[in-house]
Amino acid sequence: MDLDDVAARLGVPVDQVERLAGDGPSAPLPARSDAPELLDRLAVRPEDAREILDDWPSERWTPELRWLLDRSIALVRADLGGYDWLVPGPELPRYFVYAYLALLDDVRGYHREHGIPDAVSWTTLADLGRNLAVDRRMKGEGWPVMQSWLTLHARGGLYELGRLQFQRGHKSLSLHIPESGPLTPAAVDASLAEARAFFPRHFPDEPYAAFSCGSWLLDPQLRDYLPDDSNIISFQKRFDLSPYEEQAGLDCDVEVMRFGFRTLSTPLGQLPRDTALRRALIDHLQAGGHWQWRQGSFPIGG
Ligand SMILES: CC(C)(COP(=O)(O)OP(=O)(O)OC[C@H]1O[C@@H](n2cnc3c(N)ncnc32)[C@H](O)[C@@H]1OP(=O)(O)O)[C@@H](O)C(=O)NCCC(=O)NCCS
Repeated sequence: MDLDDVAARLGVPVDQVERLAGDGPSAPLPARSDAPELLDRLAVRPEDAREILDDWPSERWTPELRWLLDRSIALVRADLGGYDWLVPGPELPRYFVYAYLALLDDVRGYHREHGIPDAVSWTTLADLGRNLAVDRRMKGEGWPVMQSWLTLHARGGLYELGRLQFQRGHKSLSLHIPESGPLTPAAVDASLAEARAFFPRHFPDEPYAAFSCGSWLLDPQLRDYLPDDSNIISFQKRFDLSPYEEQAGLDCDVEVMRFGFRTLSTPLGQLPRDTALRRALIDHLQAGGHWQWRQGSFPIGG
């Protein structure tokens, strides 16, 4: 394969395909006949499942797309057990779903090696369906981040335990908050308690001293707008915040659009003002303010 040619045909810069050009082993997709049941287990909604089955990789796929899928699987597979964010390939719509399906056997094997209960394994992996549903609501605008995010699940780097997801890390367990109903303090407490037992049992060589989080939810400016006993502010109060630092490549004004409105392109004046949070997000930006992506942590304790 000529990489310049592949990049041109895919319509992406050549460096985005060059980094995929290693010769590591790929993995096969599951049989298409097994896919409906698998997609159901992964909480993929019927309209997404239909689309995935209709576009199933075949001889109809162009050679460069088949090359991309094969090499993207190999790239992620080479880092099985890794837990850092990984860009699995160019920002192209949804091809990574098929890579994710091809990687299931490997990650399920990794989960088994670590004694991860089946229920945790499938609940964790079923974030695929949730992300595809959000991507559909976002008319595809959200997918570039989601395909990178899903490499964490596909490598055994992240586990969903009750209300929260926990990403293994270098020193701390990083918390993530899926969109799955209210973030009540009781649900968070239960999830943290689960994590305190889970990680020493399944990853005894990775002693963690702290929970950490990087999120728009930790911006203290939200306290000017939301009630003190709201779930978001109660969540904030658990953390010791690090001093604010701008993060390269991360614009929190964009991230609040992603998580608060599930759109990146709707003008401020046309966004819905139906909740206290949404009114806050809009008013702050319209007054010339900016939102901050903040980092915080607290000891695992327990
Ligand atoms: C995190 C999350 C579960 C918090 O929701 P919650 O438990 O309802 O939070 P609160 O009780 O503090 O909400 C306070 C107000 O903001 C509203 N609100 C909270 N999150 C909202 C969201 N994502 N979109 C719109 N409104 C939201 C609530 O409806 C409430 O408004 P109301 O009093 O007018 O009804 C929710 O924001 C969410 O699902 N976010 C998407 C995932 C996410 O952002 N993850 C973090 C990524 S870094």
